[in-house]
Amino acid sequence: MSNMKISSFEEYHQVYKHSVEQPEEFWAGIADNFHWRKKWDNVLSWNFKEPNVKWFEGAKLNITENCLDRHLDTLGDKPAIIWEPNDPTEDHRILTYKQLHDKVCQFANVLKNNGVKKGDRICIYMPMLPELAIAVLACARIGAIHSVVFGGFSAQSIADRIKDAECALVITADGGFRGTKDLPLKSVIDDALVQCPSVKRVIVLTRSRTPVSMIKGRDVWWEDEIKKVETQGSPVCPVEEMDAEDMLFILYTSGSTGKPKGVVHTCGGYMVYAGYTFANTFQYTPGEVFFCTADIGWITGHSYIIYGPLSQGATTLIFEGIPTYPDAGRFWDIVDKFKVNILYTAPTAIRSLMSFGLDPLKDKDLSSIKVLGSVGEPINEEAWHWFDDHIGHNKAPIVDTWWQTENGGHMITPIAGITPTKPGYATLPLPGIQPVLVDENGKEIEGNGVSGNLCIKFPWPGILRTTYGDHERCRLTYFATYENMYFTGDGCLRDEDGYYKITGRVDDVLNVSGHRIGTAEVENAINMHSSVVESAVVGYPHDIKGQGVYAFVVSPGQHGDADLNRKDIIMTVQRIIGPIAKPDKIQFVSGLPKTRSGKIMRRILRKIAEGDTANLGDTSTLLDPSVVEEIKAGAL
Ligand code: WTA
Repeated sequence: MSNMKISSFEEYHQVYKHSVEQPEEFWAGIADNFHWRKKWDNVLSWNFKEPNVKWFEGAKLNITENCLDRHLDTLGDKPAIIWEPNDPTEDHRILTYKQLHDKVCQFANVLKNNGVKKGDRICIYMPMLPELAIAVLACARIGAIHSVVFGGFSAQSIADRIKDAECALVITADGGFRGTKDLPLKSVIDDALVQCPSVKRVIVLTRSRTPVSMIKGRDVWWEDEIKKVETQGSPVCPVEEMDAEDMLFILYTSGSTGKPKGVVHTCGGYMVYAGYTFANTFQYTPGEVFFCTADIGWITGHSYIIYGPLSQGATTLIFEGIPTYPDAGRFWDIVDKFKVNILYTAPTAIRSLMSFGLDPLKDKDLSSIKVLGSVGEPINEEAWHWFDDHIGHNKAPIVDTWWQTENGGHMITPIAGITPTKPGYATLPLPGIQPVLVDENGKEIEGNGVSGNLCIKFPWPGILRTTYGDHERCRLTYFATYENMYFTGDGCLRDEDGYYKITGRVDDVLNVSGHRIGTAEVENAINMHSSVVESAVVGYPHDIKGQGVYAFVVSPGQHGDADLNRKDIIMTVQRIIGPIAKPDKIQFVSGLPKTRSGKIMRRILRKIAEGDTANLGDTSTLLDPSVVEEIKAGAL
């Protein structure tokens, strides 16, 4: 496994050169570090026109054999998962590789008993428990395609995702704990399933002991089902032999349109990419404890809580709670308690913890920390330095990892301790990644000291293969803007040293606390409120969340209290999408600035939301320039 690790900056440059000149040879060499039931006939075939990308065609594997079985001889009694509960007085749990293997086999047998077959889609809506990882791995073991939905999404969002993927089965829990909150997960699923005839079975894990209603013939308890397989005898579950290009999972993510899309990753390429990037970026060495604070409902959790670390035989820490419960020292307690060596978190968490000052750090021993990581949004220099000074004590390199759901794993990032870092910079591409900056017309901008739209011009094993059920959407979103390139949707600067700094989205996607939210989705939700005629949503700089959600709402029919109406609209968004998309500011306006052809001029709204009203640019092409004055005057 360690054959893939780069050990010096000089070696990075050599490997990078090789990866660009001989990509197939390079990736075949990396893939050799994994366990294949049959090797590939062909390393890569691709075109970005359709797009059609295939890695390791003809190869046979099962990712769980790589994450579990192959470690049993050497690491069987070593911890695979450390789980820390929300409530610090509850006991933590440790699962060794052997125990995790057995539990995955058991639950895979439960799935089979409940009629699940290779290729079936399974929706997972669970709290951050070892059982969530077990459910994910059990699906992968039998070739079922998992679609994990983040626990903060509403019934409507879950229903949309279940319908899109035509899921046959849902795995959930009675409820979950996050900070002081109890999440009524099963009840949310019940609401969602009213709309979802494809779901024939719901498996419910006991966690919170919140009363739930179990529907006869549809709902079963996780624990009862486990008992059934225990009495059946054999605890093993042989792996399903998968083709490298068989689907492994679907993960929904927001884009510029109102409907989230199901990003599809496949077994072989994703495994190689998640494992390779985990080993290199973090420079993981055996025995270290790796703590990624993301939720498994996002790609970061898929790749760097489950598949990346486990494929490399690492110890991965799953934390059920939030950074500020019971107080703002919780992360540091966890680091201290388990002697965490690598901490991977998000700028929004860092900024939020910064706001509590240094008190929560008192008497916390952070000396185990060797590497720090950041992901999800641009990290501002202030947060970078705070992280470096107070958490890493200037001894732990920070890896600012830029990548996306569609990428499967890190794309542009320092390699810990090897790539010289610069605050706010994702620095250099990993081997195999060929970034280019292009101008509006798709012309490549060469040289250094330039900025443009970030594209990637050559495939890597972790690239998305399609968007579920709608390949054309995949083509249009990522491969049609610029010919022969994957378009990321991000703006980017390449400085004089050739270092990359991501400047943020250039499309109508917001990044709120590291969560991707499409403005169109929020607008659709707001427009469902009975008083609303139309709305426009833009982002604005927010001290903690990175970006906040600013909604301009036309609501002529509203009577009485504007604040009540605001609350109502916020509730609507919460119900339709989930709390993560709640507008931070709602400004009622009599009209939106539109061009004569009816297009909303978002550029103007963005400037107003940012408080930058001095120079709104040319407004003469507007249908009714006077609305701009009104909106400016009423800005929040
Ligand atoms: C943003 C998260 C700056 C970016 C893994 C990207 C970042 C979007 C960084 C993907 C970073 C992620 N620096 N921006 N280190 N990492 N982003 O799909 O805008 O949830 O397009 O994947 O987050 O978000 P996603």
